[in-house]
Amino acid sequence: MKEQISKIKEISIEEIKQTKDLKTLNDIRIKYLGKKGELTAVLRGMGSLAPEERPLIGSLVNEVRDELEKLIEEKEEKFKLEELNEKLKQETIDITLPSTKIKRGSIHPVNRIIEDIEDLFVSMGYDVVTGPELETDEYCFKRLNLPKGHPARDMQDSFYITEEYLLRTQTSSVQARTMMGNTEKTPIRMITTGKTYRREDDATHSHQFNQIEGLVIDKKERNVSLADLKGTLEVFVRKIIGANLDLRFRPSFFPFTEPSYEVDVTCFKCGGKGCNLCKQTGWIEVLGAGIVHPNVLKMNGYEPEQFGGFAFGTGIDRLAMFRYGITDMRYLYANDVRFLAQFDRKDEE
Ligand code: DAH
Repeated sequence: MKEQISKIKEISIEEIKQTKDLKTLNDIRIKYLGKKGELTAVLRGMGSLAPEERPLIGSLVNEVRDELEKLIEEKEEKFKLEELNEKLKQETIDITLPSTKIKRGSIHPVNRIIEDIEDLFVSMGYDVVTGPELETDEYCFKRLNLPKGHPARDMQDSFYITEEYLLRTQTSSVQARTMMGNTEKTPIRMITTGKTYRREDDATHSHQFNQIEGLVIDKKERNVSLADLKGTLEVFVRKIIGANLDLRFRPSFFPFTEPSYEVDVTCFKCGGKGCNLCKQTGWIEVLGAGIVHPNVLKMNGYEPEQFGGFAFGTGIDRLAMFRYGITDMRYLYANDVRFLAQFDRKDEE
């Protein structure tokens, strides 16, 4: 019987060595160690042995079984590791493959102009400030020399939320906020950009649009003058719309400036010769501007005897239309990618 056991041992060890896969290994396990396996059969046959031989054979069988179990386990580990490595190999990512192109977005033309304007004015020493879109009648009108009932209010068809609150019709409200917020009453050099709202809607007007506002206030003796205003706006227009444009100041009226001007630039379509865009005048109106009205200074805490300055404002959407030749303002708000994709960053690189 000992011989039988060592034969089983010899053969089974050889078989385990030869196995190439988990399944065969499992078959071997069943063949020798299973309930009906060869080693188990030996144990069963022990009844025919002499009683003193039984423990000897029993421990021999157990020894062999332990050894086989160990070998099978080792082999099993090895197969599992190989399988895992193979799987990992197949699942590796080929980083040399070209990737799928992700379409890059573009900066909206209005935001692009805002960024350019802010950069420009920061380079001239201005602060960039912000103000609320939901504004009070006080800051939007009263503190800008537009008391209730003033006829100039009619020019701005407004969205009132309550008696006192409205969606701001102009960024000029930020002039008053900046002056009032500056408790030290030190000189001011600021621009602000942002959304404004009026009840109007056509090819050149949108109920929501964007404005830029500028305000400079300094001590009287520093003599901030119309010449400074003109120089500043010249830089602004030439950097933001077109390098070769000329400016023309036309007397106008705004309640918060005195004197007030409308500022025209050379028609960029015809170069000043006259065309349908400029209605044959050669000029296109771009900005409102003027010398800050003494009432506005006074109402917002600045003594008109001690301080003076200029202000200007314009619609950014219109600037975008001029700069990019956009014919309908509503394109700016339609979110049509065919339109927006034309303003990718290629020309900035
Ligand atoms: N707030 C004016 C408007 O919306 C534009 C304007 C005109 C702003 C003259 C100014 C200014 O600061 O001085 O029509």
